[in-house]
Amino acid sequence: MAAEGDKLWGGRFTGSTNPVMEMLSASITYDKRLSEVDIQGSIAYAKALEKAGILSKPELEKILSGLEKISEEWAKGAFVVKHTDEDIHTANERRLKELIGDVAGKLHTGRSRNDQVVTDLKLFMRNNLSVISTHLLQLIKTLVERAAVETDILLPGYTHLQKAQPIRFSHFLLSHAVALIRDSERLGEMKRRMNVLPLGSGALAGNPLGIDREFLRNELNFASISLNSMDAVSERDFVVEFLSVATLMMIHLSKMAEDLIIYSTSEFGFLTLSDAYSTGSSLMPQKKNPDSLELIRSKAGRVFGRLSSMLMVLKGLPSTYNKDLQEDKEAVFDVVDTLNAVLQVFNGVISTLQINRENMERALSPEMLSTDLALYLVRKGMPFRQAHIVSGKAVQLAESKGIPLSHLSLDDLKSISALFGSDVSQIFNVVNSVEQYTAMGGTAKSSVNAQIEQLRELLKRHTEQA
Ligand code: ARG
Repeated sequence: MAAEGDKLWGGRFTGSTNPVMEMLSASITYDKRLSEVDIQGSIAYAKALEKAGILSKPELEKILSGLEKISEEWAKGAFVVKHTDEDIHTANERRLKELIGDVAGKLHTGRSRNDQVVTDLKLFMRNNLSVISTHLLQLIKTLVERAAVETDILLPGYTHLQKAQPIRFSHFLLSHAVALIRDSERLGEMKRRMNVLPLGSGALAGNPLGIDREFLRNELNFASISLNSMDAVSERDFVVEFLSVATLMMIHLSKMAEDLIIYSTSEFGFLTLSDAYSTGSSLMPQKKNPDSLELIRSKAGRVFGRLSSMLMVLKGLPSTYNKDLQEDKEAVFDVVDTLNAVLQVFNGVISTLQINRENMERALSPEMLSTDLALYLVRKGMPFRQAHIVSGKAVQLAESKGIPLSHLSLDDLKSISALFGSDVSQIFNVVNSVEQYTAMGGTAKSSVNAQIEQLRELLKRHTEQA
């Protein structure tokens, strides 16, 4: 049990903290991940204190060299955390005092852990969101570049998981790339909104020492300064926004994972996952399981859990800082780590995925062209509703004869509608089918190529901003 005199806030205490309470309260086991940004924030703050006349030049030099030493210790893994260190802020300050003596006690003048921790978290997120963006953009690029070389491969497109219409495999890949590029955009937008400096807000009331917050903003490279100190120490909008963006991204990844899981079953046989991203069964020797994709699917639940728990923590909190807010960091760290792993694995899965073209094409049954048969009649002047019924009758006739739709004779078709002519045979061609959809966003090659071009443009723009 630590004597309260050891604590940075111990002055008014005579009794000591309950040891279990101490464990519950301590965040050092995880918030040590903020060590580097905490020092970065302290360096800027020390310089601002000197500018405000609170520190002399030599005192500033002493503090800066001490902070640099601590930074090296963290980098080398040589920093020894003590059981009395409650969190990263108290740990770094305790160490500073050990290294440079009592002048260390001037660093916290006018600052509170409340404005310090939220500044740290923003700095941490800024660095880490860039890494996430890079992995996300790489995955999108892999999807787009695979789509660019696989435009001629056709397979069934599904609605309700029932065969619907033929599509290009590229069109399928791009449908996922498009969802992910929206996530990348959202990530960029939240990064911009987050870029507001809270430091200089103190515990809740602001800074009484004439600290130059514009100087701090510039030192720490924020775009602007928080407007209200009470809001600044308690707002975790940026955490919620990040967790929301991450959740939606995970939902998209989970959907893509699910598609690939289905397509890689032996029943479909469209895709084969590389061994690097599959595992076997300890009991059934024949099994090859898509664990990578299942894990990605499951992590969507995990990330959403982090979002919902953070929202529950925030709900009903009174204004300004409350210790509940300490929960924000584990959520952010966990989601950052999860996204980094998931995005890299998914990129590996996509780049090594084997496509079984024959199985895809074999699955394209002629009945999938019954919409095209109706469109044939529409082009001959028949109203679509009527054409739909005529085509349905053709499907029925083929079924009653026990033959595929494409095997009906011209006479068979003419018995249903006089508009059928010999050119109807062109309908039963899947390439012709996908080529009809030339409007922007459709399956025609021209449209798929336009999608690829646009995505390449967006990738370029997002990469510059990442
Ligand atoms: N470890 C704390 C956190 O993560 C730092 C802020 C503590 N502030 C306080 N007033 N006790 O939120």
